[in-house]
Amino acid sequence: MKIRRAKLEDLKEITNLRRKTIIKVNGKVLTKKHVNLLLKMNSKKNISKKIKNKAVVIAIENNKIVGTIELFNKEISGLYVKNNLINKGIGTKLIGYIEKLAKNRKNKKVKIICNYSSKEFYNKKGYKVIKEKILNKCEPQEKIFIMEKKL
Ligand SMILES: CC(C)(COP(=O)(O)OP(=O)(O)OC[C@H]1O[C@@H](n2cnc3c(N)ncnc32)[C@H](O)[C@@H]1OP(=O)(O)O)[C@@H](O)C(=O)NCCC(=O)NCCS
Repeated sequence: MKIRRAKLEDLKEITNLRRKTIIKVNGKVLTKKHVNLLLKMNSKKNISKKIKNKAVVIAIENNKIVGTIELFNKEISGLYVKNNLINKGIGTKLIGYIEKLAKNRKNKKVKIICNYSSKEFYNKKGYKVIKEKILNKCEPQEKIFIMEKKL
C-alpha cells in the first residue's frame, strides 16, 4: 500500500469514497441528521479546499484510493476507509502515518473530533476523550467527542 499527499485530480475519487462510507458505514449507527451533517462537511468544495491546503493524505492500493485522512495544525480529521475494505488495517496504517507526520512537525499532541461510530477505534489507538458535546440534545448517536493523544 502506498500513502501520499492528495492532489486535486484525486478530488472526485476521495469525495465518492467518503460519501459511500458515510452512507453505508456511519449510516448504520448514526442518525439521518448526523449523516447529513457529515455529508455536508465532506462536500467536493470543502475537500478541495483541504487538498489545496496540503492537508489531505490518501492510501492507494492497485491504483485505487482505499482510505483518506487529514492533518491541519494538530488536528486529525477525514479518516475514511473504503466501505468494502473496513477492518483490514487501512485505518491503522493511515493514523500511524499521520501521527508520524505530526511528530515530525514538532507537535507534542494530536487531537481528533469524532462521533459515536468511531470512538472505540480511536480508543484502541490510544486516544482519550477530553470533552464531549451533544449535537442535538437527545440521542447518544449525536454525541461528538474531542479526543487527544500524546505523541
Ligand atoms: C473507523 C475506521 C477509519 C477504522 O478503519 P479500519 O481500517 O476499518 O480499522 P482497522 O482495520 O485498522 O482496525 C483497527 C482496530 O480497530 C477496530 N475497529 C475498527 N473500526 C472500529 C469501529 N468503528 N469501532 C470499534 N472498533 C473498530 C478493529 O476491529 C481493529 O481492532 P483489533 O486491533 O482489536 O483487531 C473505518 O472503520 C471507517 O472508515 N469508518 C467509517 C468512517 C468513520 O467513522 N471515520 C471516522 C471519522 S471521525
